[in-house]
Amino acid sequence: MNRETRILGISGSLRQQSYNTAVLRAAVDLVPEGVTIETFELDGIPPFNQDEERNPPARVLELKRRVREADAILFVTPEYNYSVPGVLKNAIDWGSRPYGDNAWDGKPAAIMGASIGTIGTARAQYHLRQICVFLNVFPVNQPEVIIGNAAQRFDAEGDLTDETTKNYMRQLLENLVELMRRIQQPSTSVPISDRRPLFATSTTSETTHTGIGYQNGK
Ligand SMILES: Cc1cc2nc3c(=O)[nH]c(=O)nc-3n(C[C@H](O)[C@H](O)[C@H](O)COP(=O)(O)O)c2cc1C
Repeated sequence: MNRETRILGISGSLRQQSYNTAVLRAAVDLVPEGVTIETFELDGIPPFNQDEERNPPARVLELKRRVREADAILFVTPEYNYSVPGVLKNAIDWGSRPYGDNAWDGKPAAIMGASIGTIGTARAQYHLRQICVFLNVFPVNQPEVIIGNAAQRFDAEGDLTDETTKNYMRQLLENLVELMRRIQQPSTSVPISDRRPLFATSTTSETTHTGIGYQNGK
């Protein structure tokens, strides 16, 4: 029998009453059957210092181990000044170093975010998607779970109550599992010798110049 699919959920907020941590808590109950979400808290991760990258603190080693053990990643991020919070970027940076030892490499990921503003986290989510390019992480495109006006979607205990939001979250998690299976499953219709990687895993000048923009601009 296949083992359970494991998603590692990371909230980008350290705040006690965080909406985003509450969204992550809610996500745990919205996964498809046979899938579990485990969480990793970003508390205790010191500021990244490249002098220390070959001798990282225990908490960073734990983060990298947990990322590697996971089949997929769920980022639930607030938006700080139109971008991802420093604590999340800091953890991502630690996990990506030293060069050649990027724990995030090849992971499928889903992104969600809650804000007290109307379109809050949209900009942060797009920054995170940009970061994923260099990490070689594959974020699911749709649905985009951008939870605006968060204060109206949680009860007095801080739990997510909005059913529409939960439905989008459920769909995104389903799509994440589907993407994960497509990445992990080898194609059976093409002989091994003719197979090309589903995704390029390096950033050579060749791969960075194969985009549509380049072709259209010829
Ligand atoms: C430093 C800082 C910057 C913020 N910048 C934004 C922002 O750019 N866009 C936004 O929608 N909300 C912004 N907010 C408000 C957050 O949406 C709000 O604090 C939210 O509750 C943070 O998420 P959390 O509840 O998970 O901690 C900012 C909050 C802080 C503390």
